[in-house]
Amino acid sequence: MSATPSGSALKGRVIAISIAAALGGFLFGFDTAVINGAVDALAGAGSGFDLGVGLKGFAVSSALIGCAVGAWFAGPLANRYGRIPIMVAAAILFLVSSIGSGLAFSVVDLIIWRVVGGLGVGAASVIAPAYIAEVSPARMRGRLGSLQQLAIVTGIFVALLSDAMLADVAGGAAEPLWGLYAWRWMFIAEAIPAIVYGVMALRLPESPRYLVAKGQLEKASEVLTAVTGTVDVDAKIKEITGTINTERSESLRDLRGNRFGLKPIVWVGILLSVFQQFVGINVIFYYSTTLWQSVGFGEAQALTITVITSVTNIVVTIVAILLVDKVGRRIMLLVGSVGMTISLGLMALAFSFGTLDSAGAVTLPDPWSTVALICANAFVVFFGATWGPLVWVLLGEMFPNSIRAGALAVAAAAQWAANFFISTTFPAFAQIGLPFAYGFYAFFALLSFFFVYFQVAETKGKELEEMSEDVKVERRPRRTRA
Ligand code: GLC
Repeated sequence: MSATPSGSALKGRVIAISIAAALGGFLFGFDTAVINGAVDALAGAGSGFDLGVGLKGFAVSSALIGCAVGAWFAGPLANRYGRIPIMVAAAILFLVSSIGSGLAFSVVDLIIWRVVGGLGVGAASVIAPAYIAEVSPARMRGRLGSLQQLAIVTGIFVALLSDAMLADVAGGAAEPLWGLYAWRWMFIAEAIPAIVYGVMALRLPESPRYLVAKGQLEKASEVLTAVTGTVDVDAKIKEITGTINTERSESLRDLRGNRFGLKPIVWVGILLSVFQQFVGINVIFYYSTTLWQSVGFGEAQALTITVITSVTNIVVTIVAILLVDKVGRRIMLLVGSVGMTISLGLMALAFSFGTLDSAGAVTLPDPWSTVALICANAFVVFFGATWGPLVWVLLGEMFPNSIRAGALAVAAAAQWAANFFISTTFPAFAQIGLPFAYGFYAFFALLSFFFVYFQVAETKGKELEEMSEDVKVERRPRRTRA
């Protein structure tokens, strides 16, 4: 690595590094979405698996358990072995899981391989935001951190597309293709991005914050000069050293505090995660076909709308990338909460006019079907431009160096647990009534506004070394006395 690259070369390099790190996000999105195209074929008698309803749900959600466990362990392991080895380990887990799931010979076998892939998703969900925050210059950190969400939503989209294409070539997901069922190829397709991710990860420089913690100061100063463009490297290293415990690696014990057993800032991270899931975003993605059919679309149209929704999600993530370092995290989250509360509230209202047909499906009369359609998409827009990317950005940057990896791991594990809760309870919620389900999500969207207003501090433009364990929220810029 050259010692003093020019400004634009530097910018190019830090972007390339962040993209490579965000590839973990692509696999995260791909892995969580790929099952959707495969699951109906798996459940059919032709697959040889013949899943019941319960097992079908579990085939979808079992990976989320792996995600929570993977996230939990990624933090301490990244502190011990470094950020790069964890990325490589995640890539191996993705690779093994894709081939194992594709060649699974029983349901139990499939579920085991899905959980293995989940461990990779969980680890990637922790390591990408931490690594990106640690190698980015403060002024671009929000934009670069949002690349992870861009990668996640692109992964969701590509999985949908690759599932649809494979099913199309074979004439159905449960039809044979090149000697295997098409649904098997859907899983095997993930091996390609997994290999690319692993190879790219091996070419990345280690995080300078990790290197300082391990006393590898020369290497750390090389990365700081070449990647983050730090001018006074010695001062920066001193500053980093002052914010970490160089005697021993941080451990989960360092997260302990006196507010319900954890430090207040860790609670803020956990609650950001929980709110991001409790607004119900993944219900829209995991159960999209049911939703669109209830507003009057046929199965084929429902798939088209699902694809449109995921493209919308990609486009609005780009909006977030353009705004985050200018507008700041707090304002964007607050606007997102208001938009989500209104759109979800209107969806709850629209579904209160629904009628049940003889097959037990909900149908909406005009104009409520149009209201529901517009509001569901508006909800995706508000979420995708704010809470989707910003929670990951904040989790990567908001914790002090001394507890970052561990705190991020705990917050991400809570997010996967919340995701599991929301996606497995949706069928039961829907049975109580869709107005109840969407009302529940709207209520949490409303609460999220007050939570951000009172508890989430702005991090825009601050150095990671300035992040503290206190939860101080300055709602207005402080006035200095003349
Ligand atoms: C965020 C959420 C994830 C969700 C995605 C959808 O990354 O963490 O659960 O699937 O957004 O846009």
